[in-house]
Amino acid sequence: MPTTAILGLQWGDEGKGKLVDSISAQQDFCVRFQGGGNAGHTVYPEGGKIVLHHLPTGVLHKDCINVMAQGMVVDPLRLIDEIAEVEGRGFKLDGRLFISDRCSITIPLHLTLDVDREAGEKANQIGTTKRGIGPTYADRYDRVGVRAADLLDETSLREALQRAVNVRACQTDGNAPGVDDMLKPLLDVGRKLKGYITDTSLLLAESMKEDKHILFEGAQGAMLDVSQGTYPYVTSSHTTAAGIPSGVGLALMVDKLIGVTKAYCTRVGEGPFPTELNDDIGAKLREAGGEFGATTGRPRRCGWIDLFALRYVCRTSGITHLAITKLDVLSGFEKIKVGVGYEGYDAPGMPADIRRFSALKPKYESLPGWKEDIGSVRDAADLPANARTYLRYLEDFVGVPIGIVSVGPAREASFETHGAPKD
Ligand code: GDP
Ligand code: IMO
Ligand code: MG
Repeated sequence: MPTTAILGLQWGDEGKGKLVDSISAQQDFCVRFQGGGNAGHTVYPEGGKIVLHHLPTGVLHKDCINVMAQGMVVDPLRLIDEIAEVEGRGFKLDGRLFISDRCSITIPLHLTLDVDREAGEKANQIGTTKRGIGPTYADRYDRVGVRAADLLDETSLREALQRAVNVRACQTDGNAPGVDDMLKPLLDVGRKLKGYITDTSLLLAESMKEDKHILFEGAQGAMLDVSQGTYPYVTSSHTTAAGIPSGVGLALMVDKLIGVTKAYCTRVGEGPFPTELNDDIGAKLREAGGEFGATTGRPRRCGWIDLFALRYVCRTSGITHLAITKLDVLSGFEKIKVGVGYEGYDAPGMPADIRRFSALKPKYESLPGWKEDIGSVRDAADLPANARTYLRYLEDFVGVPIGIVSVGPAREASFETHGAPKD
């Protein structure tokens, strides 16, 4: 399969980074196509933990070329530090990192706008990562954004910054940085990034003609998609497979779409989460799963898996294979519940209206748990019988075959399977 995507199916943090890391050794390219520094993808290459925010996870494999495509928003001042960290760990990026000249640039003004809004009235808060994501995408679509190409030319950058300031500064408390505050640091960082900035859509088009293996790395998850998710409690990009063509600038269809879900569910930030557990079980999941945000350190809200929502997003994203992560975290739960629908709700999809969504009360099926530690299992057939039953139930409900199971954070702690194990 020359093109593959790894996409989150929940509210982010499903373990996408870990899976991308474990398969990008066999890929020629790893491509991020949306989002920006809001992502936090945790990986354990040799030498310990790294959390990647902007950089595609393929940077940790020396033969993999990495692309930050035009759908991304990039904070160049943070990116430069991330590049230094990765290179400092021995993963040199010369000749294997390409940044689209059409990426939107997060400027300090965007950070001010994001932080100010989150500090304002509760009703307007999304619980963002405060990385300026919303304002950067808003400026892109309002046609007053700065793009990566502008970083390379002083006149273009000054004009682009001026446009953004003209339109946005009135939305701040007068505390926003002006054009002259932003120009020099951005020009300096532009000089450092110059060698990476190029037309990545052309690069990818050529590589596809040569049948190179290309992996698209999703950030966030389907329920945070700006259109399909729990709007307005979403991020500002298209996180589903539909975001790939416009995010890379090519009318392409991806061959293999791997949708990643935890064996339970988490969310950070505001917004509805029908299967959330505000009790001891939720706290136990948080502790066993180490559920604290990789970008902001916030405790993640925890709950049971919502199979109804999962089936919906698999359908809208055309997911061909499921990857189930963190199955090991469920060891030791006597009963495991799975959300199979909502009380008094019989529509086939999820409600678009946030008030209706927030009112959903889950209906559960209860499945027997298992006690065994499964962290060293490397074959689905070796899982305890109740873990196998759990996977079968999940696969049957969602209607998409399970292709990967992950049982620990380490690179090697996952295995492929042709569907849920049969008995
Ligand atoms: P991402 O944003 O989707 O890449 O996920 P994050 O890195 O934000 O969060 C996933 C967390 O779970 C990270 O700390 C991973 O190291 C960890 N992780 C990934 N897969 C597994 C797994 O199968 N089992 C356990 N216990 N941890 C995992
Ligand atoms: P990865 O790629 C989990 C959430 C924020 C907030 C909402 C909007 O690691 O899965 P934003 O900063 O994007 O404007 O915030 O989206 N959010 C994430 N939650 N994982 C992420 O990325 C997220 N990126 C954004 O918490 O609720
Ligand atoms: Mg994350």
